[in-house]
Amino acid sequence: MGAERPVSSLLAEGWDANAEAWIEWTRGGLDSYRDHKLAFLPLIPPPGRLTVDVGAGEGRVGRELQARGHRVLAVDRSLTMSRSAATHPEEPVPAVVADAVNLPLPDEVADCVVAFMSLHDIDDVVPAIAEIGRILAVDGTLVMAIVHPLSSAGSFDRDAVGPAFPFIIRDAYTEARHYTTTRTRDGLSMTYHGVHRPLSAYTEALADAGLVIERLREHATDDPASKWSRIPLFLHIVASRRSAR
Ligand SMILES: C[S@@+](CC[C@H](N)C(=O)[O-])C[C@H]1O[C@@H](n2cnc3c(N)ncnc32)[C@H](O)[C@@H]1O
Repeated sequence: MGAERPVSSLLAEGWDANAEAWIEWTRGGLDSYRDHKLAFLPLIPPPGRLTVDVGAGEGRVGRELQARGHRVLAVDRSLTMSRSAATHPEEPVPAVVADAVNLPLPDEVADCVVAFMSLHDIDDVVPAIAEIGRILAVDGTLVMAIVHPLSSAGSFDRDAVGPAFPFIIRDAYTEARHYTTTRTRDGLSMTYHGVHRPLSAYTEALADAGLVIERLREHATDDPASKWSRIPLFLHIVASRRSAR
């Protein structure tokens, strides 16, 4: 195991407080997962000894991977999230409650780590990525998806008229800052807690963890009528451990 690290909890507490709403939201299909996963899941390598899902939430990615033959361990700091992954009525996923900065796993135990839409929701991303590097075996792969740092840096101008809404970055792209976003759909309300960080915050943390970026994909919708065809909403990175630590 790695050395025990102190943890910060602003985002983690926000997610835990919203866990029941998140479970209802995702299991009701109210976010973009159905389309997003079509781009993300093909990036994941074939099953190896162990695939660890960091910031697994209620376990939907782990369920997809189990169905593809992966032996999955879901890790989430929220008890409510981990319990819902482990007790899913049709496809339970083995799950532990742990902070991403203190993964309860030995060195080099995983062939694959998946972090789907979680690293921008984790308070201490540098030690979390260091932990991922620690538990990955040589030639093991991290496949991650985050909100694209361009899209978390700004927003479309809602007051503009016509399809070509300007996208405006009012605050510094280069500085990290917390945000919350509340969405309402089908009578349900869900508050997302995240942090905007510049892209280099992730690429530097990956390099420091000994992970080499193999692919970086910017995911924008291919519907030309959508404003999200002009600005990528998500970022996908595939990175591998190429040498022993
Ligand atoms: C947007 S949700 C994504 C969940 C899941 N990957 C999915 O897409 O369904 C972000 C998750 O990160 C978890 N999380 C936040 N901070 C964490 C931390 N420090 N360690 C582990 N998990 C954390 C939250 O509890 C939440 O379940």
